[in-house]
Amino acid sequence: MRLGLIGFGNIATALLGLLAEGAPLEHLSVLVRPGAAPEARRRLNGELAAAARGRRLVEDAAGLLADRPDLVVECAGHAAASAHAPAVLRAGVDVVLVSVGALADPALEAALRAAAAEGGARLVLPAGAVGAIDLLAALGAAGGLAVRYRGTKPPAAWAGTPAAGILDLAALAEPKVFFAGTAREAALAYPKNANVAATLALAGAGFEATEVELVADPSAPGNVHEYSVASPLANYTIRIENQPSPGNAKTSATTIYSVLREIRNRRGPVAI
Ligand SMILES: NC(=O)c1ccc[n+]([C@@H]2O[C@H](COP(=O)([O-])OP(=O)(O)OC[C@H]3O[C@@H](n4cnc5c(N)ncnc54)[C@H](O)[C@@H]3O)[C@@H](O)[C@H]2O)c1
Repeated sequence: MRLGLIGFGNIATALLGLLAEGAPLEHLSVLVRPGAAPEARRRLNGELAAAARGRRLVEDAAGLLADRPDLVVECAGHAAASAHAPAVLRAGVDVVLVSVGALADPALEAALRAAAAEGGARLVLPAGAVGAIDLLAALGAAGGLAVRYRGTKPPAAWAGTPAAGILDLAALAEPKVFFAGTAREAALAYPKNANVAATLALAGAGFEATEVELVADPSAPGNVHEYSVASPLANYTIRIENQPSPGNAKTSATTIYSVLREIRNRRGPVAI
């Protein structure tokens, strides 16, 4: 596989660490911010060298496309998704968009859908930190869904968000719901915590009909995602207690493995 990566932060480097443990990619291109190449090159050609036989750093989508990737994975954030993913899709290359929360912006969602249609490529939205997206998307096709999501994190994880203006996070002694609204409102007000709400909305009932509660809980065992689905075909409830990834406490470790799964499903003879 010839793989392109947009971003070289926590998810990208942890993913490459996992890929380095298996058969090497044929080629790897990594899009980094202008000026970030020297440090990225040191790591790419050092501890991560076993991930791919050929490795190159680029600074824009044209550079990525010049390396003829089979697949591009975006793991850099909303701005990078908006700046680079449309050109990759228009060129006919599938993009795994890890920053799913970026799609809460209707203009960006429309631009990415149009670019994919124009290029005959696919925008792939991974399950990321949450699960049972296969079932939710299957039920979504049948309609009549009611989806309620509750995202619970330790108070410190909400520092620097509007929650800090609503609650005294440091003094919290018990769980407190500080937000209740639609997935669209949640993703726009809490963009750094938007990915799960957006993934559920896109798979299931949409941004407007997916109900979200956000909770700060001093006894939370990690980042906890719970959601329940009621539909004419099936009802279910799921609770996932995620451990943080070593490189970025805001990102659950499962997200990295979810992206690994997308790659393995394309490289191997069987997809599951
Ligand atoms: N789908 C999910 O469930 C889920 C879960 C966790 C994180 N995420 C998303 O994945 C993304 C990456 O997470 P992370 O933990 O690796 O974050 P991170 O901050 O460790 O890494 C992001 C990297 O992207 C780089 N970057 C930012 N803008 C860029 C640009 N325009 N061009 C090139 N590089 C750029 C940054 O310099 C940084 O190195 C975030 O957007 C996050 O919201 C999604």
